[in-house]
Amino acid sequence: MENVKDKVIIITGASSGIGEETAKVLAEKGAKVVLSARREEKLESLASEIGENAAYLKSDVSSLEDMKDLVKLAKDKFGKVDVVFANAGIMPGGNMSELKVDDWMGMVDINIKGVLNTMAAVLPDFIQQKSGHIIVTSSIAGTKSVPGNAVYSGTKHFVRALIDSFRSESVMEDTNIRTTIIYPGAIKTELLNTIAPSETKSMVEEFYKNVGLEADAIANAVVYAISQPDNIDVSDIIVRPSKES
Ligand SMILES: NC(=O)c1ccc[n+]([C@@H]2O[C@H](COP(=O)([O-])OP(=O)(O)OC[C@H]3O[C@@H](n4cnc5c(N)ncnc54)[C@H](OP(=O)(O)O)[C@@H]3O)[C@@H](O)[C@H]2O)c1
Repeated sequence: MENVKDKVIIITGASSGIGEETAKVLAEKGAKVVLSARREEKLESLASEIGENAAYLKSDVSSLEDMKDLVKLAKDKFGKVDVVFANAGIMPGGNMSELKVDDWMGMVDINIKGVLNTMAAVLPDFIQQKSGHIIVTSSIAGTKSVPGNAVYSGTKHFVRALIDSFRSESVMEDTNIRTTIIYPGAIKTELLNTIAPSETKSMVEEFYKNVGLEADAIANAVVYAISQPDNIDVSDIIVRPSKES
């Protein structure tokens, strides 16, 4: 596919769900993928399935050093970085009144600081080479208020505001860095696994089971954004099940 083949693409959150599927689809289209997550055995198995066009590093997005090591791996193995898909995220859920402060801070560390660390690691190269593409996974929860998921919703609004502002800076600085924000609706992945058992969790699981999309719906959106000619910036893509409001 135009503009995908031979691109070097870093993917965080590649050990399951959206990241894993996106890595497979991009590799099928000739991209070289560099996979990041904490579960090394999952990365190893995905990389061996993809073959020589994959590399992986056990890495935690909440660590800037890990993200720098990831970029170094991409450059050592494939010579450059063209695209980063900052996708890792967690969604433990729960009302604010439950005071699950550790969960709140975990979402800040992964969903917010994880994206910042990923950008900090890759931006020096993108600025120097005067090209690059940053794709982030927000959520429908980043477009509206979501009771029962306030902190998660806040982290996904942050991602949107961050990338919108960064896009304007890039235009002003003439760095040619493209940016895409993906807003998925219900996608059948492991995301719900970290929600503590409750009546709400059961309802959400039932909804996902009945109407949730497969992860390839998002992988295809990422491919669409990357495959556009360099002068086209696909800024925002919302993908939701037709039965999700
Ligand atoms: N599924 C949905 O309905 C939906 C909807 C809207 C937005 N999203 C967003 O989509 C993104 C991907 O989630 P998913 O649905 O594919 O769920 P998933 O299957 O649970 O995938 C989450 C990924 O993030 C990784 N991750 C979590 N914490 C990490 C950390 N500290 N460092 C590095 N990697 C970490 C996980 O790998 P390890 O555990 O191996 O580290 C895993 O690969 C998330 O940002 C999520 O918020 C999902």
